[in-house]
Order: sequence, then structure tokens, then C-alpha cells
Amino acid sequence: MRIIYGADYNPEQWSKEIWLEDMKYMKQAKVNMVNLNIFGWALIEIEEGIYDFSQLDELMDLLYKNGIDVDLATATAAQPAWLSKKYKDVLPQDQHLNVIWYGSRQTYCPNSLNYKKRALALVDAIVKRYKDHPALKMWHINNEYSDHTTICYCDRCAKAFRIWLEEKYTIDEVNMRWGTAFWSQKYYSFDEIIPPRYTAADVNPGLLLDYKRFMSDSFLGLYLNEYKIIKSISNYPITTNFMGNDNKALDYKKWSDHIDVISWDSYPDLMNTDSPMNNALTHDLMRSYKKKHYILMEQAPNQVNWRKRNPNKKPGQMKAYSMQAIMHGAQGVMFFQWRQSLKGAEKFHSGMIPHGGVHTRTFREVEDLGHTLSTTQPVNRVSSIGIYFDYDTWWGLEYEPGPSIDMKYMDRIREFYSYFYDNNIPIDFVFSEENYDDYDIIIAPNMYMLKDVDKLESYVSKGGHLILGPFSGIVDTSDSVFEHGYMSPMKDVFAIDVEGYNVLTQKYYDNLGNAYGIWMDEFTTSGQVLLKSNENNVLVSSNKYKNGKASYIGTVYESLDNVLKLLIGHHGLKSPKDVCIYNDSDYYHIINHNDYEISFNLETINQNVSLKAFEYRMIKT
Ligand code: GLA
Ligand code: ZN
Repeated sequence: MRIIYGADYNPEQWSKEIWLEDMKYMKQAKVNMVNLNIFGWALIEIEEGIYDFSQLDELMDLLYKNGIDVDLATATAAQPAWLSKKYKDVLPQDQHLNVIWYGSRQTYCPNSLNYKKRALALVDAIVKRYKDHPALKMWHINNEYSDHTTICYCDRCAKAFRIWLEEKYTIDEVNMRWGTAFWSQKYYSFDEIIPPRYTAADVNPGLLLDYKRFMSDSFLGLYLNEYKIIKSISNYPITTNFMGNDNKALDYKKWSDHIDVISWDSYPDLMNTDSPMNNALTHDLMRSYKKKHYILMEQAPNQVNWRKRNPNKKPGQMKAYSMQAIMHGAQGVMFFQWRQSLKGAEKFHSGMIPHGGVHTRTFREVEDLGHTLSTTQPVNRVSSIGIYFDYDTWWGLEYEPGPSIDMKYMDRIREFYSYFYDNNIPIDFVFSEENYDDYDIIIAPNMYMLKDVDKLESYVSKGGHLILGPFSGIVDTSDSVFEHGYMSPMKDVFAIDVEGYNVLTQKYYDNLGNAYGIWMDEFTTSGQVLLKSNENNVLVSSNKYKNGKASYIGTVYESLDNVLKLLIGHHGLKSPKDVCIYNDSDYYHIINHNDYEISFNLETINQNVSLKAFEYRMIKT
């Protein structure tokens, strides 16, 4: 399988002479695919129903002639000004019902009928026109759904929300699920329900949770409309590009069932020392949605322009991030964008050909990477440990007011993930919809919402080891606290009795000297006490249950190193910080994410390995 290499290509900004130059340099850099037409709508549909494909035709032909494949976008991510102006239902509204105006991009209400109608007509025209074009290899729907407009609160959304609710619940069920007996919130009919708009005090958490699910489904509905049209006409695989792990607007797992190839856009914060780890995490998450190869659809060749301070990537760093993608199972490495813009909102965002042209470090690195990837094979990454990940839990847990703003879902995930990252132990993410039986160990850094009691029980019964982090087993899927106490549905499996919790405001040390803080579940166990506080309160427990084991970690440890070693006894491969190793049984793939040279002994083969700053190396096992 060859590795896909390329970029978003936005040639509409340049003359045809530049297009020819682009072809020359693409070949020189071994680019083999571009994402075309991502923001092409306004240039194609010049007025309602009148299309001009002449430029896109020319570009498709030119790319084909030059042997460059096309991932063709449906161009629905930004509608033309005339459409926003003509139909009042297109623009979204914020929590105060203020209109969010056009003049930028991705500003549409996901429940606008006129947006939907025009988008579908456009997709239909594009797919029919290019379905047999020899340059075409993949379809790219929209772009980063919900990136700029994450939630709309307008009346159309309110109406669609009521229908969404009515399809799921009776009005009595809504009242029960949302607990509307409290604060005089009872609804007597669906007509009374509105989105969680600006309110005087805290909005009902059940309403908020269902609105998040509804918004994710609304955008998914838009996506699926396009997907169905394409599938009915063409057999090429379909993708839409996801965003990184700080984005919780869409339930990507639910989405991934309807996507042929997962792709995502990676923009690590170069000022954050945790970035290589955090980026590795997102790669694992993206691979895990379908447990298949995926595409790194966008990254910056050098600096971005949208953070407060945007330093350059250091020499070699872009390649290290690219090879990190390959090591985690990517089958493509692509950029935003091919040529750096001279005008517009992203003119200070790097391109593969930067403002300085091809005689630049950026282009030399782009060329070098293209050559490396042209002789590289995708890596199959496998693992016997699963980290549980769930969007409902994330949404529910982070409702405020809650017990503590420090109880953040991704913080807990990152803390556990970093143990596996530091010890070079491969992990997959697992989701409640899946079968867990292939995994020896499943860890939920947080399982605030307990979804599948029977499935989890059976996993442990059959010999699995289930490990839960703090503040788990609190609510059911409607976000209602379990009537018989926290963790009560799994009391027997874990052999714990939870009395409550406390928010810690300072650092403490357990009986083995491990630092902890932030949170402490107050519980007792009839199983084994593994770690405890100086006052003899249980911090970590473990219980043998049938053929397996269920362990509970009731606090936030500063480092999980000793705790997880105690619990899983799997020590991984030693390496210096941010030197990552993956052993795919043929090779050790090794990356040094540091900006200095590193030497260390690779214990398993007792070999000294030296890696220059940002170097990637393969060593035969
Ligand atoms: C996102 C978008 C691109 C571009 C880049 C810039 O990922 O999809 O169109 O704006 O950010 O980093
Ligand atoms: Zn709306």
C-alpha cells in the first residue's frame, strides 16, 4: 500500500502560469494526491442553480495529466454570500439569538432547509460531473464539520430539536430524564421546549446533554445527506476531516460508522511540552474509531497563524510529526495548504511552498519527506490494552456547576495515556458500542456515565481486567444519579461501597509516597486494598471477580507510574522522554521528538541507539 502525500490545493487564488509551476514542484516533492475544491462553492455556483465548472474541469484535467490524484471536496463548508443574503434561514444564531453574519466561512445553521437544499443540489452536480474523471480517487465531504459554528440556537433548530426528542421520548419521559420536577421546569407539551439559550441561572443538564447529542446528529444529518448522494452514484471512498482531541462538539465515534476512511487535522501547539504525547493520543483515537488505517489530512508545513504566538516548526520537526502519524497507523500525510496564500485570512499560515518560494527550508523539508514516504509502508499497529472513550460521558461530566472544574475528561484521559506513551506500550481506544473481548485490559480513566453494566460484567467474568478512574459509575445514560449510590450497579464486580467524594485542595501522599490531589472518592472495599491514604482511606482497590479482575482508582495521581505498574505489571520499553518506540515485530520504529541528540540503550536487543534531533529510525528486530 503506498502512502498518500499531498495537501489542500487552492489554486483558485493564482494564475494558470502558477498552476503549471505547481505541477512541476508537486512532482519534485513526490506529491501524489491533493484535496481540491474544499472552499469552491462560491466560484462554482454563480447564482442559484447556475454552475460554472470550467475552472474545476481544467484543474482536474491538469492534475490527471501530471499523475496527481484528487480527493475531491463537495465544497459545502462555506456557502456563497448570495445564498446567505437570499435566504434568511441560512445564518446561525447564538445563545442570545443574535445572527452570526457572513464574511468569513462555515457560517450556516445545520437545520437550515435552504442551506441543505442548495448543498445537496451542488453535491449532486459535482458527483455526476466528476464521477468518472480519471483523476478522482476519493470524496471529501465538507470540511471540519462544526469547526466555527458549533451550536445554533435558532427557531429552526428549536423545531428540529422537538422532532428529534419526540422520536425518542414521550413528554413524560423527557420530564423524567431531565428531572424537571426540580426548579419548576415541567413541560406539558413539546412546543414548550426550547434550546439551551441564554438563561438567568444554570440551564437544566439533561436539556444540555440532549441538545449536544442533537447538534452532533444535526451535523451528521447534513453529512449523511451528502454521503448518500455520493454513494448512489460513485464507488470511491468517502471521508470528512475530523479535528483534534480538544473538540467535543461531535460524537466522532457515532460519525465514524458512516465514514469510509477516517481523516483528521493535526495542529500541535509548539509552545506546549506535552504536544508530542497529545498528538500521539489523537492518532490512536483516530485509528481506533474504525481500527483501520486513516489519513493525516492536514498539518502545517511550518507555522500556523491562528494562535496568539506562532513560532516555526524547528528543522526536522515537521518530519518527526509526519513519521509519528505513520508509526500510529496513518496511510497518508497531507498539509494545509500547498502554496501559502498572498491574501485572505490565512496569508500568514505556512504552505508547502511558502512566501519565500521553493528555495526555503520549508520546501526542502517537504521534498525530503515526500522522498522518504515514497519508499515507506504503512504500519499495522496492534494492542491488547484498550482505553475506554465516550462522548456522552465527556459531555455529562463537564456540566457546570459540578463538583470541581478540575474534573476534566480529557485531563484524565491524558494522564492515563501518558503512562503508556512514556513506557512505549501501544494502546487502542475502545468504545461502548464495541466488543471488548480482544483486550486483556480495559481502562476507563473516567466512567462518570455507566452505560453497559452487563457487558462490563461479562468482560470481567470471562477474564478481563477492568480498571476505572475516579468519579466513575455516577449516572445512567439520562445523566440521573444511580438511586442506590455511586457504582451501585457494579458493586459486586468491584467489591466496593462508595459513600461519596471530596474535592481536594492540596497535594497529599499515599502509603507508598505517591502524590495525589484534586479528587478523592470515599469508598471501602471487601477486595484488596492496594494503596491508601495516611488516614487509612482506600485510594486504589482491586477485586478478583470470576475469571477476571476489577480495580478502582479513586483519586487523581500526579503520576500513574507506580499505580499502573502495580495494577497491570506490564513494563513496556524504556526510552528517554519523548523518544517513542513501536515494535511491529519486523522493526523497531523509533522517533526522537526532542530538539537535541539522544543516545540510549534499547534493552530488548541490547543495542545503543543514537538519534539526532527529531530523527526517525527503523531498526530490524
Ligand atoms: C483547519 C481548516 C483549514 C485551515 C487550517 C489552518 O484545519 O480545515 O482550512 O484553516 O485549519 O490551520
Ligand atoms: Zn439553527
